[in-house]
Amino acid sequence: MGLAKMGNVIILGSQWGDEGKGKIVDLFSGRFDIVARYQGGHNAGHTVFIGENKFVLKLIPSGILRPGKIAVIGNGLVIDPAALLAEIDALESAGVAVAGNLFISNRAHVLFPAHRMMERLSEARPGRVSIGTTSRGIGPCYEDKSARRGIRIADLLNTELFRAQYDSVMEEKVAVARTLGIYEDQDLRRIRDEYEACAERIRPMVCDTSQLLNQAIRDGKTVLFEGAQGTMLDIDHGTYPFVTSSSASAGGACTGTGVPPTRIGGVIGVSKAYITRVGGGPFPTEALDGAGEQIRRRGNEFGAVTGRPRRCGWFDVPLLRYAAAINGLDSIVVTKLDVLDEFDNIPVCVGYRAGTTELREMPPTVAQLEKVEPVYECLPGWRCSTFGIASYDELPAKAKEYLAFLESRTGVEVGCISTGPERNQTIVREGSRFAKLVA
Ligand code: GDP
Ligand code: IMO
Ligand code: MG
Repeated sequence: MGLAKMGNVIILGSQWGDEGKGKIVDLFSGRFDIVARYQGGHNAGHTVFIGENKFVLKLIPSGILRPGKIAVIGNGLVIDPAALLAEIDALESAGVAVAGNLFISNRAHVLFPAHRMMERLSEARPGRVSIGTTSRGIGPCYEDKSARRGIRIADLLNTELFRAQYDSVMEEKVAVARTLGIYEDQDLRRIRDEYEACAERIRPMVCDTSQLLNQAIRDGKTVLFEGAQGTMLDIDHGTYPFVTSSSASAGGACTGTGVPPTRIGGVIGVSKAYITRVGGGPFPTEALDGAGEQIRRRGNEFGAVTGRPRRCGWFDVPLLRYAAAINGLDSIVVTKLDVLDEFDNIPVCVGYRAGTTELREMPPTVAQLEKVEPVYECLPGWRCSTFGIASYDELPAKAKEYLAFLESRTGVEVGCISTGPERNQTIVREGSRFAKLVA
């Protein structure tokens, strides 16, 4: 094995999702040959503005928006074929060339309406912790994957095999749902026919994407790995059980694409200048006062997929340090700095306390995390517009101090700053590791 090629980089969320990954991946995908998604499904919503056009990408990597770039849906994803085809159609009708540029792993798993049924009903069951999922059936589909009864894209393309597998898996699901008293009538035969029809449209895009990626890397091409969700929603490292069901952190890029760790040259975390979360679960720095509302309004913090209001709060240094360790972050991108423009003071959580004890590590349980008291330091706000600023020197001094504070407390460089949703509303720090990796 040769040395890791610096050219291949992971960009992922370092908080609870919606950090602005879509904008950042779109912006820097021009520097790479291939953009690959490695986990999740259509629970993700990555918003990209290009001039007047708004795109919300759910399954397809944001790199698809760059003409001539290859987009890969890796084996780590769960795919609802109807959702995928709807996304492809919407992109093509907006003039984005998808056919010929998108490749789908034959090892990715297929998501069925029965997964949504299982999720809907289990979320509503009395006595069950409600996770506040996106209701897309993501968790139950990954459950089937881990239980080794999942149906993969390669199976879907083999009609005879698919019919037998589908009938057997659905028979089991119906029996379980009936036993639990949660069965909702579904026309299983009609659904099977629909999936077979989808399979024919998907077939030309399906291949062994790990082979495609590894060959491309051997040929000197570069890959940008696009994470969905965020580190704190990672099935292993997040705020379990209030997490998603996949590996959103850096390790997932390898298992979810079949590209080995020795081929990855850097990891970049995307983080808001504050923090948000959608759905249930502990959130130490949540601002339950008017400030949270002010952030939500200024930041338009409503879910890109479900439209739910996002819970808003202050930048959390211990959480970011944890994410930096789990992912080996080389650099962070701080997005939505402009959303803080109006605040007189900006609290930043610099530590967690439990009673009189200062915590040195991220508590593993929800019960413990719910009890931590954030220790805040208050920084002065800059009280002027940073919206759209594209040069570091033009930032107000207090905004620079805020960024320097985040950098020194998290121990990770702030290599890039986003000051608006558009491509040109971005600052890249000269000489940073970030600039070396992507810019
Ligand atoms: P993702 O899931 O990480 O791609 O993020 P989302 O698309 O769900 O949410 C981020 C939202 O913030 C989107 O509506 C973006 O257009 C918007 N956005 C991204 N960066 C900035 C920024 O620097 N300033 C402002 N005001 N909006 C931004
Ligand atoms: P992007 O990629 C924010 C949250 C849900 C819920 C939990 C589990 O746009 O950042 P799931 O449907 O995945 O089983 O829900 O995870 N969640 C997200 N939150 N951004 C996302 O994606 C999310 N995808 C899932 O709200 O709390
Ligand atoms: Mg999102």
